[in-house]
Amino acid sequence: MLLEIKELSVKVKSSGVKVVNGINLSVDEGEPLLILGQSGSGKTMICRTLFGLTNRYNFDVSGQIFFEGKDIMSADAKKRRKLYGSDIALIPQNPMTSFDPSCKLGNQLAETYRIHNKSSVKAAQNAVFEAMHRAGLEQCKAIWSSYPYMLSGGMLQRAAVAAAIINHPKLIIADEPTTALDAEHRIAVTNLLKGLCGSAAVIMITHDFAVADRFGGYAYIMKNGVFVEQGNIEKIIAAPENEYTKELLNAALLI
Ligand SMILES: Nc1ncnc2c1ncn2[C@@H]1O[C@H](COP(=O)(O)OP(=O)(O)O)[C@@H](O)[C@H]1O
Ligand SMILES: [Mg+2]
Repeated sequence: MLLEIKELSVKVKSSGVKVVNGINLSVDEGEPLLILGQSGSGKTMICRTLFGLTNRYNFDVSGQIFFEGKDIMSADAKKRRKLYGSDIALIPQNPMTSFDPSCKLGNQLAETYRIHNKSSVKAAQNAVFEAMHRAGLEQCKAIWSSYPYMLSGGMLQRAAVAAAIINHPKLIIADEPTTALDAEHRIAVTNLLKGLCGSAAVIMITHDFAVADRFGGYAYIMKNGVFVEQGNIEKIIAAPENEYTKELLNAALLI
């Protein structure tokens, strides 16, 4: 087992609300996994906690997160920094805000590589081109010298995928990676992420059943901080058991 989350809860201290409420989840190496739920259900909060970004002043976090059998929440900061961006990578929702607007993309991707690898500038550039290639970006040299605003949303999300895979992570977490994209790019980015499964486990977080159906795999349906249903996504779409899942599916069919 690659990732195991046990009884994870996140309570907002000021309101006392548990925005994540005792969830359990596990992912095997190379497998696809889906977390589906409407906005506000707590999906991003799981990601933030996984990346150590829920600060202890505002949130009470309890439970355990094991990566390759080691509890990452109790690991020291140095160990965790080593993990994030190398073994565990994040693809955020909005590619427009995931890059520094004032810095050329090539340099940003090379930086991601060089933080985790002692390498020459030339070797970093090769790693960037190779990652761009795996992310389906052609014209690597032109993209290397582009600023983020010069690329379309779909291309930029591919660049974010390139940044995520440059260090060959074992786990990729994609938090609504298709939400900011138009239909054509939604399909392309979903296919791209699906294609990465096998070489990495990919957790796809989405509110979109069409994306989930295309992506496939085991799915957790999330509402108000808890998983209300889980199972293979094909089965869930064919025969949802929970009322909330049925509502979500019906709403998806209306669009
Ligand atoms: N910084 C914060 N302080 C207090 N509550 C928050 C904060 N960030 C998010 N929340 C609340 O946590 C819940 C889950 O949010 P989130 O994880 O972003 O949902 P999702 O990603 O599923 O849309 C929401 O009710 C949201 O209002
Ligand atoms: Mg979110």
